Amino acid sequence: MMQTDFMAWLDQQQGRQYDLHSDHINPVFVKMLRTIGFDKGYVRGEGCYLWDAEGNKYLDLLTGWGVFALGRNHPKVKSILNQLMDRNLPNLVRMDCGLLSGLVAEKLTSKTGGDLSRVFFCNSGTETIEGAIKFARCATGRQQIVYCDHAFHGLSTGALALNGGEFFRERFGELMPGTSCVPFNDLAKLEEALSRKTTAAFVVEPVQGKTCEVVADGYLAEARRLCDKYGTLLVLDEVQAGLGRTGKWFCYQHWPSVEPDIVCTAKALSGGYVPVGAIITRPKIMDGVFNSMERCVVHSNTFGQNDMAMAAALASLHVIEEDKLVENAAALGEYAIAELRKLSKDNPFVAAVRGKGLMFGIDFARPKESFKLKMAWDMLHKMNFGVFGQMIIIPLLQKHRILTQVAGYHTEVIKFLPPMTITKEDVDWFLGAMKDVLDDTLRVPGTAWTTVAGLTKRAIKA
Ligand SMILES: Cc1ncc(COP(=O)(O)O)c(C=O)c1O
Repeated sequence: MMQTDFMAWLDQQQGRQYDLHSDHINPVFVKMLRTIGFDKGYVRGEGCYLWDAEGNKYLDLLTGWGVFALGRNHPKVKSILNQLMDRNLPNLVRMDCGLLSGLVAEKLTSKTGGDLSRVFFCNSGTETIEGAIKFARCATGRQQIVYCDHAFHGLSTGALALNGGEFFRERFGELMPGTSCVPFNDLAKLEEALSRKTTAAFVVEPVQGKTCEVVADGYLAEARRLCDKYGTLLVLDEVQAGLGRTGKWFCYQHWPSVEPDIVCTAKALSGGYVPVGAIITRPKIMDGVFNSMERCVVHSNTFGQNDMAMAAALASLHVIEEDKLVENAAALGEYAIAELRKLSKDNPFVAAVRGKGLMFGIDFARPKESFKLKMAWDMLHKMNFGVFGQMIIIPLLQKHRILTQVAGYHTEVIKFLPPMTITKEDVDWFLGAMKDVLDDTLRVPGTAWTTVAGLTKRAIKA
């Protein structure tokens, strides 16, 4: 029954997802969705949009945390995957070399250029970080990994040990030893840490996912110099920022003199279809890890290089190139950030609009003026830190049909990760909605404030 008309069978199950998740996956997550009215039960995704069962169309600026950089179900990627499915390829023989993985590595390294000519494939962003940690320790014979305040590199225990906030770490016990944290964009503190000459790698996101903070001009070049001076590898986590999102193939390429030792990428590489991650590095580093025939698979994984992931990656790289998505991200990112700055400059809750290309966010803070607005802010924050963001994302979805999320826990940042295929019309849809939602924050008392206050009270009681 199921295989003859699987889709008909699946359609019959429609509507059960929240109960199934409550029973078997994560009931608290379901409760959260229901509390803020995000339980939309989307039934279709195409390009920049999602549709619910009533046929309402939503603009997706969350893109599955950056996975749908090409939009959803891109026809070119889909067509290539369909062709592959019909071929019965020998996939994952293991004691052989796959053609597709070689082609992806060739294409990917043509975009990094320079000495970054080797690739290790894995299945997720966090796994790229785990690999980078091992490669750096192996290459330098050192233990220590330095990371930045507010950093996010994934949630497996090695990557989590590099998380620049307490929220994700607490209650999970001791993580990987040998790590230390430096403030983001602080070269003096970085030098202080590296000068001990015990650091294998400095791991940093050129645009921080949790804050949308961008490395200052000159920062990476100086970090590069310090890494060279003290024998440390420079590892750039471009899991989110990489593959065009910031307006260059790799974000570090905004500063042409910088060549990292290791670049981690994932998310967009999947084409939104098959999980994949890639660590791109120098031959010397790879050769140090895989240094004999006996050790030729000493770092490996079961699913890495699988044909579906590799075809999705190859197709995605070609689409990004052919459809000029890097250029689109640069142009529309610049437009969106500039316009968002303009329309929010008089809103006293907006502390900053920051980011690069199509990875940008808006940061909220307690107003400096207006007693009434300060009181409203304090009242909300007494109930729950970080709830102000709900006052933005809830009306964005309910009133304007735009899907977003607060960027991180215990921050006031809302991040936007539009598909790189977004059009100016859709950016304008977003800007119009933001203007309306921001204007509403100034109406105290008003529906935006009472809705969020009521919701917070209910959430606390529940
Ligand atoms: C910069 C960065 N590094 C690593 C990761 C972890 O990737 P994954 O969730 O695929 O393990 C993420 C995920 O959001 C990320 O944004």
